[in-house]
Amino acid sequence: MELTGKTAVVTGAAVRLGRAIALELAAAGCDVVVHYGSHAEEADAVVRRICDDTGRRAVAVHADLRDPVRGAATLFAAVRERFGRADVLVNNAAIYEPGDFGTITEDHWDRHLGLNLKAPFFLAQRFAEQFEGDGGSLVNILCRRATRPTAEDLPYTAAKAGLLALTKGLALRLAPAIRVNGVAPGEMLPPAGRGETPEEWESRVRAAVPLDRVGGADPVAGAVRYLCEAEYVTGEVLHVTGGDHL
Ligand SMILES: NC(=O)c1ccc[n+]([C@@H]2O[C@H](COP(=O)([O-])OP(=O)(O)OC[C@H]3O[C@@H](n4cnc5c(N)ncnc54)[C@H](OP(=O)(O)O)[C@@H]3O)[C@@H](O)[C@H]2O)c1
Repeated sequence: MELTGKTAVVTGAAVRLGRAIALELAAAGCDVVVHYGSHAEEADAVVRRICDDTGRRAVAVHADLRDPVRGAATLFAAVRERFGRADVLVNNAAIYEPGDFGTITEDHWDRHLGLNLKAPFFLAQRFAEQFEGDGGSLVNILCRRATRPTAEDLPYTAAKAGLLALTKGLALRLAPAIRVNGVAPGEMLPPAGRGETPEEWESRVRAAVPLDRVGGADPVAGAVRYLCEAEYVTGEVLHVTGGDHL
């Protein structure tokens, strides 16, 4: 799929992986809806960067995805108003809250299922209803834990495994109009609040990665772009882990 002149919606696009994905799709020629939850200034900075560096159009849109149905409706109402229609949706926004098995609460479960699984579904629903012909691309950002669970963080892992099932089911449900794929990153960036220095994080991650280096955000953004452009690929999951999922 040629991305020049298309419109892409990237959720959680103000910071970290989502920011890199938004910049990559703009570099490929897309106008971009930079969705954010709390990082309004950072979202505005991404918009300015896209407009200055690529000349593409970009707009920051706030929607709280803790309320998945209303959040998805708010975001796509803004898409309709500003661009008419979106051709690409990247479900990147998510939460990751570590929790000890013995003390995980029902609220913890509900937060992870709501933001990491239900929100991508309702965003896909709003995205799909815009299509009459073909040419859409939906990419869900998963996690290596979706296909290779660890003993930790089970609500997060289960939500991402659910998103993997949703990716394949939506690929069937939305064909031929929309291709649906997933990117499953390894540990690309240090998570906030884990009590490790960046150096400690890097040496721990490198020790587990066959390619012996950390990835950063750009390989994930490149994988999203590839899947958006790959016209005969749907229902696929691309691991971007340096081999850490093997
Ligand atoms: N980083 C990694 O190494 C890694 C590894 C595996 C998988 N992943 C996956 O890759 C994606 C991005 O990861 P990341 O580390 O860049 O994530 P992150 O720093 O945790 O950012 C997540 C994004 O989700 C948005 N978000 C959170 N709560 C929201 C809410 N209530 N309403 C609307 N938006 C909300 C945030 O927007 P605001 O900041 O504007 O609130 C933020 O931009 C996630 O799906 C994650 O699970 C990441």
